[in-house]
Amino acid sequence: MREGAEVLEVDHHGDKVLRLADGSILKLFRRRRVISSAALYPYARRFANNAAALARLGIPVPQVIEVLRIPSIERDAVRYAPLAGKTLRELLRGGLAPARERELKAAFTRFVVGLHDQGVYFRSLHLGNVVCTPEGRLGLIDFADLRIHPWSLGKYLRARNLRRMQGLDEERDWIDAAAIVGGRPPGGAQ
Ligand SMILES: Nc1ncnc2c1ncn2[C@@H]1O[C@H](COP(=O)(O)OP(=O)(O)O)[C@@H](O)[C@H]1O
Ligand SMILES: [Mg+2]
Repeated sequence: MREGAEVLEVDHHGDKVLRLADGSILKLFRRRRVISSAALYPYARRFANNAAALARLGIPVPQVIEVLRIPSIERDAVRYAPLAGKTLRELLRGGLAPARERELKAAFTRFVVGLHDQGVYFRSLHLGNVVCTPEGRLGLIDFADLRIHPWSLGKYLRARNLRRMQGLDEERDWIDAAAIVGGRPPGGAQ
């Protein structure tokens, strides 16, 4: 599978995300030897189940092709067709015209409010994990670690969900906390 693959992400344990020669993406997760929730319910499986649940909610996500176990390297993996588009982080780093940036920020705020209203707590919320599709919709990648509550999230969880992104210098000002936590319509006074 690795033949002709392009490495998209690595960490100190090795390759993490690969684009395979056929264009599909292979995301690897380390297996835990000891008994843990990751051993009982592997992250690759969670990714696939979350993709299905998010798709049912109408949120654009990559199309999962298969979940794999690769014992020789003690990894689980999920292979998927990429979600067409670019992450908001890529768009931001590529340079955005001010009007376009305002538009995307307002769309991002509406998107997060929509996730929270639908009970989605996306732990890895930041601009690198939100994709803007060619149709101009926002979608998610990187959601192995996500929880969908059967109710709309309360203010406490909404606020907590923003904290990680508020810690990122480049991305902090994309968070309109008043709109996301307080219910003010997005794009109002800054
Ligand atoms: N579905 C996808 N569509 C487009 N790009 C993707 C997709 N999935 C991953 N990528 C790209 O792969 C890389 C890592 O993706 P991600 O799943 O967020 O991994 P990480 O755990 O390293 O954050 C990023 O460079 C991202 O742009
Ligand atoms: Mg990511």
